[in-house]
Amino acid sequence: MRKTKGIILAGGKATRLYPITKVVCKQLLPVFDKPMIYYPLSVLLLADIRDILIIVNPDDLPLFKALLGDGSALGLTIEYAVQPVPAGVAQAFLIGEAFIGRDNVCLILGDNVFYGHGLQAILQSAKDRAGASVFAYTVRDPERYGVVTFDTDGVVSKIEEKPDMPESSWAVTGLYFFDNDVVGFAKKVRPSLRGELEITDVLKCYLDEGRLNVFPFGRGYAWLDTGTYESLVDAAVFIKTIEDRQGFKIGCIEEISFQKGWISKEQVLAIAQGYKTSYADYLRKIAGGAIG
Ligand code: TTP
Repeated sequence: MRKTKGIILAGGKATRLYPITKVVCKQLLPVFDKPMIYYPLSVLLLADIRDILIIVNPDDLPLFKALLGDGSALGLTIEYAVQPVPAGVAQAFLIGEAFIGRDNVCLILGDNVFYGHGLQAILQSAKDRAGASVFAYTVRDPERYGVVTFDTDGVVSKIEEKPDMPESSWAVTGLYFFDNDVVGFAKKVRPSLRGELEITDVLKCYLDEGRLNVFPFGRGYAWLDTGTYESLVDAAVFIKTIEDRQGFKIGCIEEISFQKGWISKEQVLAIAQGYKTSYADYLRKIAGGAIG
């Protein structure tokens, strides 16, 4: 079976958060106790993906490198690429072509937060399926997203980008698994009316070939995006609420790497050494075996 590499798309304009994001990158903003990018990164780690490309706006490259480096402190290999202008989500496969090489790829948007029991298992099964695998989630405002419609057998029959009159409430989330054909499909896609290479058009290529798998996330899952004032605060409150209640952290990348045996206790403690916060206390607890 081919290896799966990961891409985090962390560019974009973030206009819906202006003036906050006029000079500061959205995916580095805090979501309660950690930078936003930790959340999508943690999802890749849960899917056992350790080779990661982070695509960023040119000005933000030094900041991401300062935060995550080459990934070795987390037992990962992290590379970076720039997206000169935000020309659409599907451009990730053109920018990432050399990185993807002959492997499969998982793309996750840098502002998406996923949480729910059994997430790891669902990620693994999506990763192992042929073709493309995406996740659908019921939302109140499907017209803001790519929307999938299912036939009576539960098989996906249609996918539309931001439809005026959505035929279902199932939005496609910002997490996608693809086989290696995705690069060829992305090359064929032409810019939409809004001038973007749409991920929905890439998914349509798979749907036309009968190779699009859609995994519904049930109502017990949380899929949050953090692109507006309200959703950013909502996500922070959600993370804080669960973390305070349970004592477990959501999206703690060091914890996942440690549990998977990719970094040692000493490496976790070395990271904790650099912080004087409750995040450091948590890392010490993990390293001491008090959590997990
Ligand atoms: P969006 O939320 O659709 O766009 P945005 O982040 O630029 O925000 P706004 O609508 O407020 O202007 O993007 C979703 C994610 O994908 C986000 O993490 C940014 C990223 N992205 C890119 O990196 N490059 C792109 O070309 C696009 C369209 C999005």
